[in-house]
Amino acid sequence: MQVIAFVTQKGGSGKSTTAASIAVAAFQQGRRVFMLELDRQGTLSDWIESREAEEGPDCERIDATALETALATLKGANYDLVVIDTPGIDSPGVNAAMRSANLCLIPCRPTATDLRGCLPTVQSLIRLEKPFAFVLTQCPPRSNRVEETRAGLAALGLIAEPPIVSRADHQDAMAAGMGVTEFNEAGAAANEIKQLWIWIENKLEPKGKRNVVKAA
Ligand SMILES: Nc1ncnc2c1ncn2[C@@H]1O[C@H](COP(=O)(O)OP(=O)(O)OP(=O)(O)O)[C@@H](O)[C@H]1O
Ligand SMILES: [Mg+2]
Repeated sequence: MQVIAFVTQKGGSGKSTTAASIAVAAFQQGRRVFMLELDRQGTLSDWIESREAEEGPDCERIDATALETALATLKGANYDLVVIDTPGIDSPGVNAAMRSANLCLIPCRPTATDLRGCLPTVQSLIRLEKPFAFVLTQCPPRSNRVEETRAGLAALGLIAEPPIVSRADHQDAMAAGMGVTEFNEAGAAANEIKQLWIWIENKLEPKGKRNVVKAA
């Protein structure tokens, strides 16, 4: 079972929105996905409540103190991907999520404030020696700000591809209890999320190492 956590103290950077769509995209690609929400704000619990689709990722909001037990239960129940959403504040829950994750994703809007805002998270992850990658989110479709932010982030760590553009599909999909790949399967937002999931999956388990069959 692999665990990914969306983390950054910077509020509103796109943790919950990106987590929901990535969880759905992974489910559509055949993963058994459980989403754990450590945020009392309840963005993902509200989202799952409004879902009408019969199939998809499962989701539960839990307290940080229950994380370890929850992960053990999910492993026993044969889930193979857990997506953790965390609050936009420094808290014991965020720390617990970072510790339990195979890969942490730091959504970052292309602004100087977001770049600065994610520094404490980066420092914590370096201290914990956890693999992490930035995800550029809510990017304007055409702006050199994205490249400027990319350059700033590249000095701090790996950047996941592609950047996620700011699109109404993300907001409308969340409101409808869907991932963007369900809401508008052929749309640009869906395409970016599908590519981002491929990037994440490859990072979790590089292609060359998947299903390696040894020659007799
Ligand atoms: N790619 C996107 N395109 C357009 N809007 C987006 C995108 N990603 C997020 N948003 C919007 O930005 C706002 C903040 O997103 P979200 O709630 O996912 O951030 P968050 O990091 O989880 O916030 P918090 O720190 O409060 O938990 C929401 O209104 C959401 O609809
Ligand atoms: Mg959130």
